[in-house]
Amino acid sequence: MAVLADKCPEIKVTVVDINKEKIIAWNSEDLRKLPIFEPGLSLLIKRNRNKNLFFSRKINENIAEADIIFISVNTPTKKKGLGAGYASDLKWVESSARSVAKFAKGNTIIVEKSTVPVRTAELIKTILSGSKSNSNSEKKTFSVISSPEFLAEGTAIKDLENPDRVLIGGDDDKAIEKLSQIYQRWIPKSKIFITNVWSSELSKLTANAFLAQRISSINAISSLCERTGADIKEVANAIGADTRIGSKFLNAGPGFGGSCFQKDLLNIVYLCRYYGLEEAANYWEQVIFLNEWQKIRISNLIIDSFFGTVTDKKLVILGYSFKSNTNDIRESPAIRVAKDLLENGANLVIHDPKVSKFQISNSLGENNEKSNNCSEGKWTFAIDIYNACLEADAIIIMTEWAEYLNIDWGIICRSMRQPAWIFDTRGIVKEKSLKGAKLKFWQVGKGLITNNIK
Ligand code: UDX
Repeated sequence: MAVLADKCPEIKVTVVDINKEKIIAWNSEDLRKLPIFEPGLSLLIKRNRNKNLFFSRKINENIAEADIIFISVNTPTKKKGLGAGYASDLKWVESSARSVAKFAKGNTIIVEKSTVPVRTAELIKTILSGSKSNSNSEKKTFSVISSPEFLAEGTAIKDLENPDRVLIGGDDDKAIEKLSQIYQRWIPKSKIFITNVWSSELSKLTANAFLAQRISSINAISSLCERTGADIKEVANAIGADTRIGSKFLNAGPGFGGSCFQKDLLNIVYLCRYYGLEEAANYWEQVIFLNEWQKIRISNLIIDSFFGTVTDKKLVILGYSFKSNTNDIRESPAIRVAKDLLENGANLVIHDPKVSKFQISNSLGENNEKSNNCSEGKWTFAIDIYNACLEADAIIIMTEWAEYLNIDWGIICRSMRQPAWIFDTRGIVKEKSLKGAKLKFWQVGKGLITNNIK
């Protein structure tokens, strides 16, 4: 919405939320207090806030005023009930639709922005069709269209300013044209694809499933490289040069995280099973299994490197967010690895340039906040990388933050306990930067390469 407001100064954009704290934070004078960190976002907020971009808790009034409403609420995987563990929980979509049904006036276009399982537009339409018009006002009418979001965190502003494509799904030509006109303010018409509503919804799930599958594929090959002496980067380079495969999204790592990939895969698995397509369901589910395995494999090989016990070993985790340039830790592989190591009695020191101690504490379990304990081990939060590594037994790089690219490994290694280990799950440490450092070095898709460091 910040990008939309920036590109269309004559359109008034209001973001509403039932969460008071979030709205206060979005209106905060101190731009470091915005609820999410995203490169370039604070600049857009500063430029447009209270001009044509507003953040408000007045939900009913703003619905009544709106010509177009984007439903952008979260749709997490259901924890309970029918479809638990697979299907999306649509309660927030449903309650938003009910508010729209109650307070909207005249003709309102509803744009389904949340990632939703196929046929959600139907649910929204059903709720809206039950809404009664005020006797003294004009008749309420609604048009429901789908326009899923393809932005990735960390590059969200760029992705929105210059998208590969925009999808608009629906059958109301007038509503589609209205939304398309808005996008055309900064996006060429050739990049705006009009589809039926179900294709639009399914395209979003499928795009994420394909991207996730690519990561599980390269991670599966990374494990084979580590055993055979092949180098995953050389393999990725070689296959990426084939234009049919393409070079993007081929970085082996600790497994994908984030709010979308797993959730959308689970949704596809659920849909396939719902329609009796067991083989298709199993195929996509395997992408998730492989992703879990990659995380477990990394925890296990760290523990194995210490002859099966990390009890009281000081292990430093560098990076906790699920990727760099975001403070989002949802489904971050670092959580799983940290939990495994804590369960094995490790003494963890966790560093991340943007993730807070509070977030880490929440992710490591409820009992954790007071005692700082998770099962056997302990963890502390570090502000300074070099201090964090003093007397450490191992350093585990979990996120590819720019801060970690220029670490002086010579200084770090001299301050560590011997035998000192570095586990680079992102493949970001250059071997030549380790020259002369006394340590054992493991890198994803390459394995143990101590012997090469002279
Ligand atoms: C994803 C989609 O890219 C985006 O289009 C959709 O709208 C939302 O979901 P996001 O989850 O923000 O975006 O991040 P993305 O860059 O796709 O990365 C997802 C995960 O895959 C991260 O954990 C990342 O580290 C990992 N990844 C990505 C790899 O391990 N290797 C790669 O080559 C690329």
